[in-house]
Amino acid sequence: MSFDLVLFGGTGDLAWRKIMPALFQAFRHGTLPPGGRIIGVARDDLDNDRYRALIHKRFDDVELAKRPSPEEFDRFAALLHFLRMDLSRPQDYARLADMLHERGADTVIMYLATAPALFTTACEQLAVAGLNTANTRIVLEKPLGHDLASNRAINDSVRRVLSEKQIFRIDHYLGKPSVQNLFALRFGNSLFEPLWRRETIANIQITIAEELGVEKRGAFYDSTGALRDMVQNHALQLLCAIGMEPPINAHADAIRDEKLKVLRSLTPWTPATLAQHVIRGQYAAGSMAGAPVPAYRDEPGVDPGSGTETFVALRAEIANWRWAGVPFYIRTGKRLAGRDARIVVNFRPAPHAIFNAPAGAANKLVINLQPRDGLELHLLAQGQDNRQSSRPSNPTLAPVQLDLDFDKRFGSERVGAYERLLLDVIDGRLNLFVRSDEQEEAWRWVEPIMEYWRGDPVGPRPYVAGTWGPSASSAMIARDGFCWSEEC
Ligand code: BG6
Repeated sequence: MSFDLVLFGGTGDLAWRKIMPALFQAFRHGTLPPGGRIIGVARDDLDNDRYRALIHKRFDDVELAKRPSPEEFDRFAALLHFLRMDLSRPQDYARLADMLHERGADTVIMYLATAPALFTTACEQLAVAGLNTANTRIVLEKPLGHDLASNRAINDSVRRVLSEKQIFRIDHYLGKPSVQNLFALRFGNSLFEPLWRRETIANIQITIAEELGVEKRGAFYDSTGALRDMVQNHALQLLCAIGMEPPINAHADAIRDEKLKVLRSLTPWTPATLAQHVIRGQYAAGSMAGAPVPAYRDEPGVDPGSGTETFVALRAEIANWRWAGVPFYIRTGKRLAGRDARIVVNFRPAPHAIFNAPAGAANKLVINLQPRDGLELHLLAQGQDNRQSSRPSNPTLAPVQLDLDFDKRFGSERVGAYERLLLDVIDGRLNLFVRSDEQEEAWRWVEPIMEYWRGDPVGPRPYVAGTWGPSASSAMIARDGFCWSEEC
């Protein structure tokens, strides 16, 4: 099967950091189908050779093990082409059409790794140039809009020219091996299913913590913030994966129908829950790994008086028979104490204590997403020496843990998120992509938060870079009688 992958934004940050390295890995692993052509599209004044040279140079920024040898790069470079295009000029789409028709590949993939403001024009112009045929697929990168209305406008313009089955909306968290393992854990094993409900689970915590600040993306981030950047998409997708009912099969729509039901069941916000159950923060100067780091407001591209949040913690509930009353806590932020994405499922404590046991130390399943990818089951066990003559009548239990490290078990050379997703686009598999109704429902749920913040003069609470966010986040969870996993 031959394919042409047209990469709009072919000289952009995403192309260098994620897409090209992922395509190269697929090429190196022999999983990229033969007969492919990758066409970088941008306004830069380049030709094939200069584009290839630029990409070669950019591989210097990639971790050593993932860099091509000169011989590997030569072979990979044969797939790379460049087309200079201004996305606002119809005649440039006609040139693209000529280039594609000349070859007539079986599948043509339009990957829009550009500013979302260009999505609508690009879709319209692709249609004018007759490039929206049955063998076309389109890949859309987040952010897809900045609120419900703008998200709908983009989705409408794409759906006017292509059907939903041709649209691949990327949420790269769904491509992570750890997230696929979460589906495997829940729907490939029967062990946890009877326990996966309100009767046995006290609360669930989803943490996506980053050590990085806003890097070179200050201007973009300042108009986006953590709620739009991480909660509306990645965190809510994780919540869906944890909270959804078993799908009837592993096909894309069966999975997406169940995720949609979770999003529709999220308890709507009220003035009281908005005031008590959502905390926003912004990092102040601090230190990371012993080195000082500036405050968010002093980052390049950021407004020195910015009210943008770099941290969000919130409490959600899924109002259905399985989950009613179980708090789902979501927390994400930049410049936190560690790079750590994990989901902690806290089971209810034993109903009647016959042992001495440390509170909160066990009865939990930890799903580590990154940097380690694995599962930990925290239990209590009789650890101390029982031969002592003065044994207490209530023996004391010690926390122990069953630990499964997927990298050790399956090797750390597993398929990365972008590699997995790109291969799925080429194969036409939609399972790990987000449907428009999921996206819209997620926007519908976060919009009241955005509106509440607009009218809240207090603004984000400062937290010192290198900590776990503002103390209000711990206070929020403590009001329910719980604590974040690193606190207890
Ligand atoms: C992106 C966000 O979607 O995800 C970034 O825009 C964030 O701000 C990134 O840093 C985190 O992804 P990962 O895979 O490094 O956890």
